[in-house]
Order: sequence, then C-alpha cells, then structure tokens
Amino acid sequence: MKNYDAWNIEPLRDMGDRHALYLNLIQWAILAPNSHNVQPWRFVIRARDHEIVLYVAKEGILPASDIIGRQAHISVGCALENLAQAAAYYGMTIVPHITHTEDKETCVRIVCSDPSAHAEEHDGVSLDSMRQRRVNRGKFDTARNLPEALIQSFHTYAQAGGLIFDSIRDIPTRLAIAQFQEQAEKYVLAHDAFRKELGNYFLPNATEEGRGMPGNTFGLGDETSLRVHRALQQEGPFDPDLANGMAVSARDAMKHSPLIGIISIEEDMPFYWIQAGRVLQRNLLEAERYGASTSIHAALIEVNFFNKLLRLRLKRSARPTVLFRAGFCTEERPHAPRAPIEGVVTVEKDRV
Ligand SMILES: Cc1cc2nc3c(=O)[nH]c(=O)nc-3n(C[C@H](O)[C@H](O)[C@H](O)COP(=O)(O)O)c2cc1C
Repeated sequence: MKNYDAWNIEPLRDMGDRHALYLNLIQWAILAPNSHNVQPWRFVIRARDHEIVLYVAKEGILPASDIIGRQAHISVGCALENLAQAAAYYGMTIVPHITHTEDKETCVRIVCSDPSAHAEEHDGVSLDSMRQRRVNRGKFDTARNLPEALIQSFHTYAQAGGLIFDSIRDIPTRLAIAQFQEQAEKYVLAHDAFRKELGNYFLPNATEEGRGMPGNTFGLGDETSLRVHRALQQEGPFDPDLANGMAVSARDAMKHSPLIGIISIEEDMPFYWIQAGRVLQRNLLEAERYGASTSIHAALIEVNFFNKLLRLRLKRSARPTVLFRAGFCTEERPHAPRAPIEGVVTVEKDRV
C-alpha cells in the first residue's frame, strides 16, 4: 500500500544535486519513531544556504496525551538523529541550532556541510538499520540477554549527549516497573479525552492513512483492531475488559524484557527533550544493528505520579524522560505507515 512507500527508500548514488540530497536526508528522517505516529515534524529546505530547518509542528502536539509537547519534541529529536546519521553516511556533518521562541515554537536550524567523497568510510549507523527499525510491542525472550557491548553503547551515547542513562536489568525493579506500567495504562485509558485521541490514531489494519498505528503493530488481527479502534472512539464508559487487556499486555511486555532503558534529563525543557530524542534514536539504531528489538512507553513518563515513583526507584533527581525496552523478539511486527513527504516539506524557492 502507498502509505508504506516511505520504507522503500534507497541511498542516493549521485550527491551532486543539493536539493535532491536534502530531500533524501528528510526521507530518512521521517522513518523515525514518534509518539502515536503523528509525525509532528515539518521541514523547510534552504539549499542555497546549506540549511534544512526542522520545526516541531504545533498541530502535531496532541492536547490530551502531550499537553506540554514533550512527546512531540522527543519525536522530532528522533527524526533529527536519523537525519544526522544519514548525513554522516554521505560524509556530511550537520550542526543543529535549536531555538524555542516565546510563542512556544521550537525550530532546529540544521547547517549542512558538503558531502564527502570518502562517504563509504563512514563507520556509524548503516542506513539499513534505519530502514529495518520499527517498534516491537511484543514480548521479548527473557532468557536471551543483550550483549554487554550494546548496553555499554546505550550509556556511552547518553553520556555523549549530556544525559543520564539507567539500564534496568534486575528482576525486582523490572517487575516493579511492569506493575507501574499496568497502572499508568489504566489511568490514562480511564480519561475520555486521552482515549478518544488514542482512538483517532489507533487504526484498523487495512487503513490507507499515512499517520497512526494500525492494530497489527500491537499484534492484533483485523477484527480486533477494528473493534478496539471503534471502542476507543465511542462516547461513554470504555469496556473494562478491553482496558484491562491493553494494560495487562503492556505490563507483560515490560516484564518480558531483559532490559528497560531510561533516559533522564536535568531540566524539563524543549532543548533537553530534543536531545533525549536524539539519544533514544541513536540507542534504538544501535540495538537494531545487533538484531535486537525495541519499543517505547510514554505513560510512566507523562503521568507525574508514576514519574515520581520511577525517580524514587532510580534514586535520581533528574527527570526520567524516555523509557524503552530492548530484547530479542519472539514475534516479528510490521512497519507503521508514513505520510507522504510532500506534505511535510517546503522548499524556499527564492533561495534555490
Ligand atoms: C516519544 C515517543 C513516545 C512513544 N510512546 C509510545 C507508547 O507509550 N506506547 C507505544 O506503544 N508506543 C509508543 N511509541 C512508539 C510509536 O507509537 C511508534 O514509533 C509509531 O507508532 C511509529 O511506529 P514505528 O516506530 O514502528 O515506525 C512512542 C514513540 C516515541 C518516539
């Protein structure tokens, strides 16, 4: 289906046309994970100025689940990291300048160097990892630990980004987090506005939409996906069995993970949210390189009460801002769709 075309991207062979090159970088960027698959990013190409400007789209900030826009900023950080890694593949370096204006608009001006003839010597992320990655919300094999070198990389990338990383591997803490997760899911699902908003993005499997999460990415068949999609959108009380089922499956997925990674930040501000997104995506891509699967969970991060519990358990003063699981999957999951690139890119014509 057309809404999955974005995943068929190929690297450019000829890097001579700067406009085509920047467009290609953006095509890699939009494969990034993002909250509810809203894709809260907009890009402006200023090829003559060697710049791409990346905006956190205000319409991509979900009013019920992302009141202050933290999740949208983290998502944009993930896209920025993909863009940086694709640029590195072409032997380019990028310098991002993040600004947050008084009317709460965040924009990243990305200054790009020219591509280098030595691009093939690049030893970072392979573009294949970006193309292969997808969230896997299923259970992971708890008997198969992650390689120590990978876990070490998670810490190293967080440190390099100026952030704090905790890797939770001990069973009591994993179980405690799994219990928190179940309660946090139930808490958010009990809120009408949250549930309806989720219903707009939780989609039937055969959807032709470019944004949102088809039920098969949650391991659900066609009928159940449609039923959950409708039930979430309905007025009135939510079927308690469905709410329970969703919360329990989130808990069990958490339980069945050899590692839970938590990225914490010193200040709860847009700059750090974007930085947390970059570190998150760098870690997810590294996991992919090792053949490991990952998924991201926001409920514990966004509900203040649970965030405080997490902080207490971690014995940290810094704020946990991203929580992800990593492990070797027991079941493959499909990609999620992407909206057409034309809708998210503007070219400043007078500058080209
Ligand atoms: C900041 C952020 C928060 C997310 N929160 C959740 C979450 O709470 N639960 C969940 O199942 N997936 C979560 N995700 C995963 C997204 O739903 C997923 O990235 C999106 O649907 C696109 O799918 P893909 O990553 O497989 O391409 C989150 C992703 C990001 C970047």
